[in-house]
Amino acid sequence: MVVPLNDRERRLIASALACFVLAALSGVLFRVGMQSGWTASFTLANIRHAHSHLMYFSWATPSLFVLLHPGSKQSLTWAWIVLVLGVLSYPLFLLFGYESTQVASLSLPPAVVVSGLIMLAWYGWIFDYLRTGRGASHGSGLFRRVSMLSVIFLFLSSLGAWGISVVGPLGMGGENLIDIFKHMFLSYFTEGWLTLAAVAVLIQVLKPELPKKRTLAVITILLFVGIGLSPVLGMPSDLLSETAMMRARAGALLAGIGLLLLTVPLWRAADSFWKVPVLALGLKGAALAILAPLAPIWWADNHQDRVLFLHLLLLGIVTVTIVLALAKDHDRWVKLFVVSCVTLIFFLLPPSTLWPFSFPAGIWLKVIGPLSLLPALAAIPVLLKGGFLNR
Ligand code: HEM
Repeated sequence: MVVPLNDRERRLIASALACFVLAALSGVLFRVGMQSGWTASFTLANIRHAHSHLMYFSWATPSLFVLLHPGSKQSLTWAWIVLVLGVLSYPLFLLFGYESTQVASLSLPPAVVVSGLIMLAWYGWIFDYLRTGRGASHGSGLFRRVSMLSVIFLFLSSLGAWGISVVGPLGMGGENLIDIFKHMFLSYFTEGWLTLAAVAVLIQVLKPELPKKRTLAVITILLFVGIGLSPVLGMPSDLLSETAMMRARAGALLAGIGLLLLTVPLWRAADSFWKVPVLALGLKGAALAILAPLAPIWWADNHQDRVLFLHLLLLGIVTVTIVLALAKDHDRWVKLFVVSCVTLIFFLLPPSTLWPFSFPAGIWLKVIGPLSLLPALAAIPVLLKGGFLNR
């Protein structure tokens, strides 16, 4: 099963996959830095910023723009603009992170300025999608609903980012309000936009049996309300009241059930390697519905829990879905890529609170670096064959 993309769209996704390689190598540098202290004179925090923003801006988002709205020249153009700006922001995040630096007579945070331009390009794509893509004949009602929800959350996440840039410099509302906007941006972007856009692609490719109209409406409400409450779930517990935490747990339960209701028909329709992102989706749904409501666990308080949960989504669902949509799923490099992503996610378990045994930190640090390199290496033949070489 491959998504019918034209050559120019394939080249965009293959170029985005080249950005994935660079971002993954930055993740490897982070691991090398953790183990040996050598960070090529960048700070660990800035390497993490550069890694995550390149993954978001230049890998996942432009690829999903094309996959959600194939056949549109404007959509492709916006995807390229986002990709290129993301690449420009990469060295800026590496050098300055979110910090300001002197540009002529002004003190500006250069990476934040470029990120602002990227969000303007998101609006260009959203406008084009709403104008011509929303009512497009391709895709089922389920595809259109889920992709529309993902686009709404992309827009809402951008409001969080603008909120930070207005509230911060004006000193309004204190740290709490900045935190709320920060988590609104991050959670709506990952839990809303990236998750639902990847699910929409899965629906488009696997064509699962459609739920009854009433079930469809229930799933939409569960996801909208549940993901709507997700920013609170991402905040550290010491910033939250008991009531806010209860609401966040209820939201996680709703979103988890919504995702599980989508996982069942997708699992039935999936074969071979397509089962991998669907299984990851089921695990994410189960984690939200079962683990998040449990009182002793508040995973935003534990950095390694957050890294595990995020990579289950970003690598296991989003990345594997895009790569399978680009390439033939029986190609051996694609298989190697998917297996290396799954292995990497599995190796994020030991430092997390889900790991029931003692954590062998020394051995883990030695293994995780080389393992992190595998998806980056396997992606190179996939991007060459998927986008640039005659197939
Ligand atoms: C080969 C693939 C990948 C590798 C080797 C990798 C590696 C890493 C590493 C080492 C960190 C820092 C962990 C820490 O702070 O302890 C990290 C964080 C992060 N990564 Fe990845 N990653 C990969 C894929 C992805 C993808 C595909 C995305 C997004 C589409 C992504 C987004 C992020 C984000 C947002 C964070 C920051 C987490 C936080 O601090 O809250 N990563 N990654």
